[in-house]
Amino acid sequence: MKHTTRLFVNGEAVEVPVGSTVLDAATEIGVDVPTLCHEPRVDPMGSCRMCLVEIEGQRRLQPGCKFVAQPGMVVHTDSERVKRHRRLLLSMYLADHAVDADGLPAERGVGNQLRQHVLDHGTGPALPSIEADRTYRVDHNPYVHFDPEACVLCNLCVRYCDEVEAVSAITLANRGSQTTIATADQRGLLDTTCEMCGGCIAVCPTGAMTEKPSIGSDWRQEEKVRTTCNFCGVGCQLDLHVNDGKVVRVTSPDPGQTVNDGNLCIKGRFAYEFVHHEERLTTPLIRGDDGQFRQASWEEAIQVAARGLLGVKERHGADALGFISSSRCTGEENYLMQKLSRAAFGTNNCHQCAAT
Ligand code: SF4
Ligand code: SF4
Ligand code: FES
Repeated sequence: MKHTTRLFVNGEAVEVPVGSTVLDAATEIGVDVPTLCHEPRVDPMGSCRMCLVEIEGQRRLQPGCKFVAQPGMVVHTDSERVKRHRRLLLSMYLADHAVDADGLPAERGVGNQLRQHVLDHGTGPALPSIEADRTYRVDHNPYVHFDPEACVLCNLCVRYCDEVEAVSAITLANRGSQTTIATADQRGLLDTTCEMCGGCIAVCPTGAMTEKPSIGSDWRQEEKVRTTCNFCGVGCQLDLHVNDGKVVRVTSPDPGQTVNDGNLCIKGRFAYEFVHHEERLTTPLIRGDDGQFRQASWEEAIQVAARGLLGVKERHGADALGFISSSRCTGEENYLMQKLSRAAFGTNNCHQCAAT
């Protein structure tokens, strides 16, 4: 049985696994099809219509993100008809979207894919703007901000919350121009099943969902620094966004790249205030004979600790020592801790708090 499908995209032959979408096939040969509601971690919905392509033999344009590739299919992603559709669609989005002084979709400190599509593809005739009453409840949760005027109703946040987090805290509510993202009974997120993972923020293509603590920080000024989360031993990779020497936002590397597959929990994404907390210990402290702490260099602190541990070993034997590491350490750090215990001090008395 053949496991691949061969089709043609913009005149180029491409072979993809059976079941792949037209968008997968285009991506395979480096053809860029604009999307808004597409996300590899959730089932395709085909709601934004940004990825419509022309398929020979099909009367209507079809959503590339949802339409399954068929053998011999002939696809055009950049025909005049497709381009005309994109421009008109973008005009429709602009008629119902908060814009900045240049008439472009506003950025709100984070990237806005809709804005980029307008810049890349242009718009059709200007359409009258839609005045809809989408009053959003005041939500006192500390982390997730939602602005209905920037929402394109792609439903990605809802699908992520449902399909990836399995939490289903948010939903589409109302009909027509009043459609918006809401919670059951319009409760604040803290009164729902929401786990404050921030995944809805991460997948939102327009910045309608944003991190409250980062409002005001401009992503263009932010430098990304890759690190490993230190809240547990899973080893999730984080991108710290640093602006003017301060961590202002935490995101995950793209899905498919690291162990966390683009996901984070509340601690990894939001609990970074400690980094700059004024009470944070940044230098080792050694307790003197008077019982008071004094600041010391790392070298001196390690010497003092080593002398103390070796003293116990000499007086009482290696098994009088015990080494306990923390679940906040990485796997590599835990490995080093047991190596220190076994190889340097000669005892198997080592444990890790998450193993109890
Ligand atoms: S923060 Fe996470 S759990 Fe809460 S609504 Fe967003 S995706 Fe759902
Ligand atoms: S908040 Fe963002 S992800 Fe959710 S429907 Fe609106 S635009 Fe899409
Ligand atoms: S990306 Fe295909 S319809 Fe939205």
